[in-house]
Amino acid sequence: MSETQPIDALRHLEQEALSAIAEAAEERALEEVRVAYLGRKEGKISAVMRLLGTVPAEERPALGQEANRVKEAVARAIESRGRILAGPGGGGHHDLTLPARRAWKGARHPVTQTIDDIWGIFRQMGFTRARGPEADSEWYNFVALNTPLDHPAADEQDTLYLVDSVLLRSHTSPVQMRTMEKHDPPIRIIAPGWVYRRDTYDATHTPVFLQIEGLVVDEGITFVDFKATLAEFARRYWGPDTQVRFRPSFFPFTEPSAEVDVKRVITRPDGTRQETDWLEIMGAGMVDPNVLDNAGYDSERFTGFAFGMGPARIAKLKHGVDDLRTFFDDDVRFLSQFAR
Ligand code: PHE
Repeated sequence: MSETQPIDALRHLEQEALSAIAEAAEERALEEVRVAYLGRKEGKISAVMRLLGTVPAEERPALGQEANRVKEAVARAIESRGRILAGPGGGGHHDLTLPARRAWKGARHPVTQTIDDIWGIFRQMGFTRARGPEADSEWYNFVALNTPLDHPAADEQDTLYLVDSVLLRSHTSPVQMRTMEKHDPPIRIIAPGWVYRRDTYDATHTPVFLQIEGLVVDEGITFVDFKATLAEFARRYWGPDTQVRFRPSFFPFTEPSAEVDVKRVITRPDGTRQETDWLEIMGAGMVDPNVLDNAGYDSERFTGFAFGMGPARIAKLKHGVDDLRTFFDDDVRFLSQFAR
C-alpha cells in the first residue's frame, strides 16, 4: 500500500504539469510552471524526490525510476513548448508599436506589360494570337522563309543549334509559316515569343530575348495597308502626334523591306513638349511571294505584310532604362518601379 501513494502522487503531478505547460501562453508563464514543478526549492516534483529517502529501501528503486521519468517528461514538454512560444507568432513579445509589415503585391514584368499593351492594340485591329515552338528546324527558321542556309543570317555564328538541322529559333518569323500551313487566308496574327542568338550578354544584347511577330495575308493587301496599319499602331501606342518613317532595308522573306522608325512627342515635367530622336522600332515588309508559295498559298492571288519587333527594346525606350540586363536580373527593387 505505502509505495503506491508517492507513485500516484507523481503521476497526478505529471498530468497537472503537462496541462499547465500546454496552457502557458507566453514564455514568462512557462517559466513559472517550470519553477512550480521542477524548481529546486519549491518544485512539487522535486519535493516528491526528496521523500525518496523516507520510503523503505526495497521500494526505492521503482519509485526513483518513476520519479526520474516524470521529471524528464515534464522537462521535455517545457522545452518544446518554449520553442513554440519563442518562434514566429509564438510568444507574448509582440511590440505593438512597430509599423505593420508591407504586404507584397505581384505585378507584371515591364517587358510583359509592353507585350500586353502592343497585343491589345493589334487585337482591337482584328488580329488574333499565334505561337510556335522555340526549338524549330532549319526549314521553318530559314529555308521556308526564303533564306538559303549560306545566307549570313543563317550563319552558325549567330544561331544556336541543338542537333543536326534542329535549332533554337533566331526570330519569331517561323510562326508565319507554321500559321499559314494550318490556316487559309485571311491571316491576321500577332505572335510574341522567346528567340535565341549567340550574342554576348551586354547592355544592348541578351542571348535570349522576346520578339513580337505580325503577319497579315489576304487578297488585295497593298503597301498602303502595310504603312497605314503600322502607322496606326505607332500612334495608338506612343500617342497621336507620333511620326512614322519607313526606311528601305532588306530581309530575305519580305520584298520590299523596311525598318520602321518613330519620332515621339514627349511632355517634359515643366509641361513643355519636345520631339525625340528617330527610334527604330521594327523590321517589316511585304511578304515575299516565295514565302507564300512555300506555304502553299497562291502568290498570284494573295499578298501580305509582316513585321517583327523587340518589346524589351521598346520597354527600354519607354522607361528610359539604359541596360537591357536589368530586365533579366529580377531585382524586385528595380522591377517594382514599373508595377501598375
Ligand atoms: N525576323 C526579323 C528579325 O528578326 C524581323 C522581321 C519580321 C522583318 C518580319 C520583316 C518581317 O530581324
